[in-house]
Amino acid sequence: MQGNTTVSEIELTALLECLYQHSGYDFRHYSRTSVQRCITQHLQIEGLEHLSELIPLILYRPDALQRLLQCLSINVTEFYRDPFFFSALQQRVLPVLKTFAFFKIWHAGCSSGEEVYSLAILLDEAGLLDRARLYATDFNHGILARAREAVFQEVDLDARQEAYRQSGGQGALKQHFHCRYGVAKPARRLREHITFAHHNLAVDGVFGEMQLIICRNVMIYFDRHLKRRALSLFHQSLDPHGFLCLGDKESLDRKMEQSHFELLDRKARIYRKQTVNADSLAAEHDHIVTDMGGTPRKPLAQPGQEKPRCSKNMV
Ligand SMILES: C[S@@+](CC[C@H](N)C(=O)[O-])C[C@H]1O[C@@H](n2cnc3c(N)ncnc32)[C@H](O)[C@@H]1O
Repeated sequence: MQGNTTVSEIELTALLECLYQHSGYDFRHYSRTSVQRCITQHLQIEGLEHLSELIPLILYRPDALQRLLQCLSINVTEFYRDPFFFSALQQRVLPVLKTFAFFKIWHAGCSSGEEVYSLAILLDEAGLLDRARLYATDFNHGILARAREAVFQEVDLDARQEAYRQSGGQGALKQHFHCRYGVAKPARRLREHITFAHHNLAVDGVFGEMQLIICRNVMIYFDRHLKRRALSLFHQSLDPHGFLCLGDKESLDRKMEQSHFELLDRKARIYRKQTVNADSLAAEHDHIVTDMGGTPRKPLAQPGQEKPRCSKNMV
């Protein structure tokens, strides 16, 4: 494909519809700009001239389908990404979690796990890890397998030592890993408190009774309908007065912020759930899902239980 060729909107709509019908993966409500950018690059890598040539490939070639899904799921992450975020968590959220005998945290869109391990280490240092259960979810099976395997590079830990310190970490980041031959594996006590699970924010249901939800650098790829669906899932999945942390790349719109959440930290975008109008948001959620061509709200799921619905043939 030539660099100056624009991807036809009609072909793109047909491709995304076909992808959804065939695999259950719903990218129809992702930001068109980012989807177009990914697919344009993907066509170059696959050596294809026209976007429509991808349609038979994804229908009849499972390997081509996997490659396309992999390309659409952007997995960039690192330990202590945006240290100010972790520092704000320490100041605003951990003191409240300290008052609980047991608490649950959901990292939505966890990628290969660096973010959830970063938090588990800070909880460990604060003496809170034994009271915590961390659920880390993603819609990409391949990246979840990597997160579960938890094999990191020692040089990457060296590179993130300063970010860990700025995040409020004490000592050496490497002390929380078993390092051998350049490979670093998180300590067993960290891994034991984390459950990795498949969850797709575009199609799956509520993940209940969390005291803290972290979803950073995920909804930037969503259009406003999908973002609203995800936010209403988060609202319903939080305990009364639970925390929602979005990081500095995303925010709530003014209406959502005023009626459903209280802003605690503007830079780190840390919010606290308000319970008023919860029913109206649940009703709105059904409306959004129906509007997006889906079925209304699915039954509540408890982490660890069978999920309400999974797409087939996932990444
Ligand atoms: C850029 S990474 C962010 C990782 C981490 N939260 C961070 O900030 O470092 C975005 C992740 O969101 C996941 N993702 C994208 N769409 C998703 C969806 N609909 N449901 C669940 N995860 C999704 C991708 O697979 C990817 O791993």
